[in-house]
Amino acid sequence: MRLCIIGTGYVGLVTGTCFAEVGHDVVCVDNNAEKVRQLQAGKIPIYEAGLEEMVPRNVAAGRLRFTDSIADGVESSDVVFIAVPTPPQADGSVDLSFIEGVAREIAGCMTQYKIIVDKSTVPVKTGEKVAETIKRYNKARVDFDVVSNPEFLREGFAVEDLMKPDRVVVGVLSQRPVVAMREVYAPFDAPFIVTDINSAEMIKHAANSFLALKISYINAVAAVCEASGANVVEVAAGMGLDKRIGRQFLNAGIGFGGSCFPKDLSAFIKIAEQLGVDFRLLKEVQTINDGQMDRFVKKIIETLWVLKDKRLGVLGLAFKQNTDDVRMSPAIELCQRLLKEGASLRVFDPKAMDKAKSILPPSDRVEYVTDMDEVPTGCDALVIATEWPDFTKLNLERARGELAHPIVFDGRNLFDKAEMERMGFLYKSVGR
Ligand code: UGA
Repeated sequence: MRLCIIGTGYVGLVTGTCFAEVGHDVVCVDNNAEKVRQLQAGKIPIYEAGLEEMVPRNVAAGRLRFTDSIADGVESSDVVFIAVPTPPQADGSVDLSFIEGVAREIAGCMTQYKIIVDKSTVPVKTGEKVAETIKRYNKARVDFDVVSNPEFLREGFAVEDLMKPDRVVVGVLSQRPVVAMREVYAPFDAPFIVTDINSAEMIKHAANSFLALKISYINAVAAVCEASGANVVEVAAGMGLDKRIGRQFLNAGIGFGGSCFPKDLSAFIKIAEQLGVDFRLLKEVQTINDGQMDRFVKKIIETLWVLKDKRLGVLGLAFKQNTDDVRMSPAIELCQRLLKEGASLRVFDPKAMDKAKSILPPSDRVEYVTDMDEVPTGCDALVIATEWPDFTKLNLERARGELAHPIVFDGRNLFDKAEMERMGFLYKSVGR
């Protein structure tokens, strides 16, 4: 099928590339001409496993191309996906101006029937507004349908999630676009759910908020574990074997971050409020998440007492493993909190150092180290801030020798507690 994807961020670029990979004819549009030029030259602006090989392969096969013109994209496709940012506003609501702007532009250049599909995470009822907008600005009176098709990919596993989705959700205002949507997703082996457009939009916010709730739940359990001497990792394993609960998203840590959960949670609370519902449960999820960072910083201060003039090694800057994304990263927030307390930092991340430098600039108190094993050198303690599996390969013998004191604060429970203690570390993790 001929598909257009507007927006080449994490969602748009991976979606467009995977659609091309399964044989569709895809044009990706971005209003950032420089980014388009880079993509045309085969330069991928984000780190996402598999993408670097897939993009040039599909470009070479003639199934994938990039343009900065919406008119070009709309003209050369039957189904147009909107995958532009929906950033948060100060009051927690979502800024929908990019969606609205793109809807108007699509309306202005349609010359024949199109299906316009929203992939961005948006508040319930946005699809109805998009349909109204397109109708209003579509002077040529061309027929169209609006569909909601939320994306559930995780950064760091985006290609895998897209190629093998748990489900495909398609929300419609009428049945007309369903056949075409089935055709788009025919190459993917996944349950295909057709529902009304409001429910589809709600599924995305309800799913993300539930996952965030799961994390806050286990973080709250971790606090009780710490107070009682139980071990949260054992507790999560025991709970997770119940199929109704599941083990995933039960990893206690320094709290969730990223460009989705914090934003989507605030948005869902705001949407409910605007509809007259006080979603107190989700407000508590936020409170627990904020408190999780406070508790971890407190743990560091309780152990090291005064942080002023102390030097800490920090492993991890990305908001989670397998990504170079540092937006709303708990690891960066932790660094900022430690700096505020007067500490100096030696930091490392396998992929996110370049992007981190714009938020956490190198200085006499922030030193970027290119070799993980050199981070502990001359530090008073080591802090683990991101759940990169590679960190478990740290040379612990060497770290113990190079740290001024063998102290490790593990905010992601990456290491075996008993083993760390056997090696002589003062080892503080979360809920163990
Ligand atoms: C999340 C959802 O998982 C995706 O399904 C969704 O499509 C995406 O948001 C989106 O709305 O676009 P993502 O933000 O990429 O994906 O990352 P997650 O893997 O969900 O992790 C979010 C945060 O939770 C990270 O900071 C991670 O470290 C933290 N986390 C995750 C925990 O603290 N504990 C866990 O057990 C799992």
